Amino acid sequence: AVEKTLVLVKPDGVRKHICGEIISRFERKGLALHAVKMVNVSVELAKKHYGEHEGKPFFQSLIDFITSGPVLAMVIEGNNAVAAVRQINGATDPLKAAPGSIRGDFGTCIDENIVHASDAPETAAREIGLWFPELSD
Ligand code: CMP
Repeated sequence: AVEKTLVLVKPDGVRKHICGEIISRFERKGLALHAVKMVNVSVELAKKHYGEHEGKPFFQSLIDFITSGPVLAMVIEGNNAVAAVRQINGATDPLKAAPGSIRGDFGTCIDENIVHASDAPETAAREIGLWFPELSD
């Protein structure tokens, strides 16, 4: 099925100047950019985005990190986009992510793992609404 999914290049990816590299990997797979923007993430948006992790020991460091610099937010569209993007990103822990995946190639620790992507179509709908409210106006 044709799906949309939310992808973020987190502040570490922006600082490493690999936004273009990351976009290229999705495009080469056959996925399309539906919407793209740079975002200075507010603490309010960060807490909503990571709401499911509230109470976990790493919650505050998640919020601090995602608000530490600009993020590239995008909506990516294509066949099975949710699973396809997650395959390209690789496992959450860059040390477990396969070489050839974004995290496997560019990351060294789980706290700064370069990219975020929605984990299911339902999550994608919620996250796209959060990051791109203008798309549903
Ligand atoms: P992501 O899947 O985008 O959203 C939750 C993030 O929490 C995850 O990426 C990791 O970057 C971060 N994180 C930090 N510590 C952990 C941990 N112990 N387990 C899972 N995620 C963690």
